[in-house]
Amino acid sequence: MKTKKHRILVLGRGGREHALIWKILQNPDVGVVYVAPGNPGMAMMARVKCVPELDILNQDAIIRFMVEYEITLVVPGPEDVIATGLADAVRQHNQEHGTEFRVFCPTLGAAALELDKGLAMELCRENEIPTGKFQVFDNPLSALSYALTVFVWDGAVVIKANGLAAGKGVRVCRTEEEVWTAIYDIMVRHLYGDAGKKAVVMEYLKGEEASITVLVDGEHVAYLPSSQDHKARGHKVAPGVYEGDDGPNTGGLGAYAPAPVVTPEIQAEVHKAIVLPIVRAMARAGLTYKGVLYVGIMVTKDGPKVVEINCRFGDPEAQVVLPLLKSDLVELMLACCDGRLNEVEVELHQDRAAVCVVLASEGYPDKYETGRLISDVGIHPQFIHIFHAGTERRWKGRGDYELRTAGGRVLAVTAVHEDIQHSLDWVYDAVDRIQCDNLFYRSDIGHRALARLGVRV
Ligand code: AMP
Ligand code: GLY
Repeated sequence: MKTKKHRILVLGRGGREHALIWKILQNPDVGVVYVAPGNPGMAMMARVKCVPELDILNQDAIIRFMVEYEITLVVPGPEDVIATGLADAVRQHNQEHGTEFRVFCPTLGAAALELDKGLAMELCRENEIPTGKFQVFDNPLSALSYALTVFVWDGAVVIKANGLAAGKGVRVCRTEEEVWTAIYDIMVRHLYGDAGKKAVVMEYLKGEEASITVLVDGEHVAYLPSSQDHKARGHKVAPGVYEGDDGPNTGGLGAYAPAPVVTPEIQAEVHKAIVLPIVRAMARAGLTYKGVLYVGIMVTKDGPKVVEINCRFGDPEAQVVLPLLKSDLVELMLACCDGRLNEVEVELHQDRAAVCVVLASEGYPDKYETGRLISDVGIHPQFIHIFHAGTERRWKGRGDYELRTAGGRVLAVTAVHEDIQHSLDWVYDAVDRIQCDNLFYRSDIGHRALARLGVRV
């Protein structure tokens, strides 16, 4: 008997969602993938239909679309979509109408791990999950007093807006003035709006960071490869070329997987001391966690500690983690939704490493121009992926289109080869072939991995 084709709706328009769709399409039973709003890279793929008119923050519109197009599974990419309570709305619709729509993300209560940083930290404290010292404040003067105490003691302190701030609400303060400014910006000036009604003041953790991506079905967990993001913009070393971990924080300018800092021992510790206790604590609280659990860790001299918890794939981590997954992603997502992840085997490409280099608009993460021509993206071998993010197709006339920049992070170029050195060689070769006069990239993605592996840079 022929199985019914999956009809999948992906929500988002970035490189992460492009990588998700690329992986979803490897399932032969996928009939069509709808994506809202989508981007030109996705629009060029067979079996993908972009739905730019669908408002992804409007649950009713999404559910109407799912009914009309008989969607079997909806996969939200970004946190603001998850924060609308989409999973709760879909479940309620199922109960009221006897439908069986699947939604691959946690409910609003469970997503609080990302939406309410203070609550996530409290959960760590209550369950003895290793993290830094912290306090949560709604009063700026109390926050300042505590932050200055930690600063005097440690020489640094981290101040975070409690709510969602598009990845910008975190300040690592290394001077007293930075402490004052952070509290003022977040809690007094409300630079990040309501996200700064409360702030988390946290100990600065020293070590090397890594991202842990886990699929969770409420009870069972399955690990995707560890990865490492490069969040800072760095400093300019040549036109269009930056390097270093200085400069402002961005959404992420590159990543690689697996991350050698996550040794098998660290991975085992993360599982035992961090991931399982989080999943179990959520279940005990009646907030069954289903979907992606992304734990940002710092590998300190005392072992791994939690820096942040997110309820979605990282971007650009997804672009390096998904190509290393050998198993079928659709089967895994369905198993998560149905609470039977233990019945599905998760196989990884153990003999490959992936590197992603983001091409961003000059000026990002501050002010930048858009609408600049990308005259060539090159033609690449199969192990190079040009994932689109901030791009747009413009009508040139006479049946012809051209590609223009339309956002901060524009393209996420990814190479998947036998080891990190090969992937790096290929990825930068591909980056060099992309023609646009207003893009920059970091030239040192993967530098920590190379140092750990003993490669001279
Ligand atoms: P978050 O959005 O919480 O991940 O914070 C953004 C970035 O700030 C992290 O990826 C870290 O590089 C840095 N960061 C956040 N919290 C800490 C901490 N407690 N210690 C050191 N660095 C931190
Ligand atoms: N790359 C960091 C994040 O997605 O949160």
